[in-house]
Amino acid sequence: MPSKYPFRSALVLSAASLTLADHEPQAIRWATTPVGPDGPWNAVEVRVGSGEQRMALVPGGDWQTSVVTSDYCSFNASVSHCSAGTYSKDEAIENDLNGIRFEPRPNSLEEGVQIEGRNSRMFMDEFDLGFDGGVIPNVSMTLTESQFRVYPNGDWYPMFTGCLSLGAIDPQQHYDDIYTNIIPWYLAANQTIPSSSFGLHIGSAVGGTEVSGSLMFGGYDPDRVLGHVLGFDGVFTGRIPLRRLRIEVVQGASPFDFDTGEDLLEGDPLVVRLDACSPYLSLPMATCENLASRLPLNYDTGLGLYLWDTSDQTYRNIMHSGSVLAFTLGERGSEVTINVPFQHLNLTLEPPLVDAPVSYFPCYTGDVAVPVLGRAFLQDAFVGGNLESERWWLAQAPGPLLPDASEISSIEWYDLGIEGSGIDWAATWSEVWTALDELNQELQDDGNRTTPSSNGTTLGGGQTSNSEDGNGMTTGDCN
Ligand SMILES: *[C@@H]1O[C@H](CO)[C@@H](O)[C@H](O)[C@H]1NC(C)=O
Ligand SMILES: *[C@@H]1O[C@H](CO)[C@@H](O)[C@H](O)[C@H]1NC(C)=O
Ligand SMILES: *[C@@H]1O[C@H](CO)[C@@H](O)[C@H](O)[C@H]1NC(C)=O
Ligand SMILES: *[C@@H]1O[C@H](CO)[C@@H](O)[C@H](O)[C@H]1NC(C)=O
Ligand SMILES: *[C@@H]1O[C@H](CO)[C@@H](O)[C@H](O)[C@H]1NC(C)=O
Ligand SMILES: *[C@@H]1O[C@H](CO)[C@@H](O)[C@H](O)[C@H]1NC(C)=O
Repeated sequence: MPSKYPFRSALVLSAASLTLADHEPQAIRWATTPVGPDGPWNAVEVRVGSGEQRMALVPGGDWQTSVVTSDYCSFNASVSHCSAGTYSKDEAIENDLNGIRFEPRPNSLEEGVQIEGRNSRMFMDEFDLGFDGGVIPNVSMTLTESQFRVYPNGDWYPMFTGCLSLGAIDPQQHYDDIYTNIIPWYLAANQTIPSSSFGLHIGSAVGGTEVSGSLMFGGYDPDRVLGHVLGFDGVFTGRIPLRRLRIEVVQGASPFDFDTGEDLLEGDPLVVRLDACSPYLSLPMATCENLASRLPLNYDTGLGLYLWDTSDQTYRNIMHSGSVLAFTLGERGSEVTINVPFQHLNLTLEPPLVDAPVSYFPCYTGDVAVPVLGRAFLQDAFVGGNLESERWWLAQAPGPLLPDASEISSIEWYDLGIEGSGIDWAATWSEVWTALDELNQELQDDGNRTTPSSNGTTLGGGQTSNSEDGNGMTTGDCN
């Protein structure tokens, strides 16, 4: 199909006499410290510019990448919000932003939370992702200089990290006569990877149920793709129907005193976007309230989020149970259900959003244009896309018990589908889920030794339910 891929054919021809690169999927490296202040979230590590400025970026979104600039750190300076690394824009200013005059609206940074500030200025620079093909020149970036998240209380909070673009439908992005490179297209044209495509499972940094992240360009790890794979035409940032949202018990006793399985979604189906650049489950208030009325949660009006009542025994039972929030997405008759275990929904808010860390449930009721399933959802979902055949895929991703690394699968430019592994999803969680009857037995045994506490601060083995274990909950750098 040479006429459909002129950019690619041209570069492939001109490269024919050069030494061929590996032509294999490339796996990105992950930052060792997760980012907050509402995670912890896994992030990838990139080096930008000739100075190799190191940054942890969340992978997600299309077109340009966003980076936090170093002078942005002077805002809200009493809170450390720049430890994921920043970009010095000196060169951008010297080069008059390469002449790029396009300025995306603030909410292009993330869709699931309101963003205020000026439109973002842009620049381009080289990105080192640690791949065989070397650095990728002229990657476009929005510069986060004056943009803040605004919550229902009207307060402005700083961004803690940028977002690494996964690609776009066009091989290059152009602003007047300036052309910038789209990472997977460039790598494919350069013959570093088999096609302009990617496979992503962000995984989870939640303490006790960590799942390492996996991001490949040109392919995917089949062990991250479990069960039925739902395919869509177009680009992964498109809108898709959420058909049902249920609380389910998938293993062991129920921690709930109601019959689970009822559809709690208001507005059926609800058209949503998946956006890994956004943190929450940004859903209509009525849907969040349906969930909150069944779970030990207290609404935080100012933030539009829900705090777990960690003193409630039901909270502890839920966090030890094999229960999930089950999202059914797709068209009628062509659906996939993604289970997000409640352990991954015990996330942490940190300063400046709160004074001291608290556990929260990420249903977000703030005003957003389109409902968004953000990173909280993507902890347990695989998203892949082939930008050449214009197909993308969604599937259940595994829990903490990952199988030993297996063969990586390539995505070829003509591929319309991908195949997952035959791994049983529940088996990747079963060791985490303490059967509730075991937990109750522990509590009972404990009760004979210590004074049982109805507010749950006294636990078997002398642990405390809401101790801060300090294992990477805070934001950090990637050094
Ligand atoms: C952060 O800085 C911005 C800009 O100065 C300010 O408007 C906002 O109130 C600050 N936010 C917090 C939480 O201090
Ligand atoms: C990067 O962009 C600049 C400015 O448009 C151009 O001169 C240069 O050739 C480009 N470099 C590459 C490797 O594409
Ligand atoms: C791939 O990119 C590297 C670094 O930019 C360059 O040296 C090499 O020639 C390119 N290879 C091909 C096949 O285009
Ligand atoms: C929930 O998360 C908090 C951190 O915010 C952690 O300290 C606590 O142990 C977790 N609770 C359970 C029951 O896993
Ligand atoms: C704890 O007390 C309960 C009720 O009195 C009793 O049935 C159980 O055997 C006791 N457990 C231990 C370990 O003593
Ligand atoms: C919770 O339990 C702790 C320890 O048993 C106790 O000190 C505290 O007063 C209790 N709080 C409430 C609100 O009951």
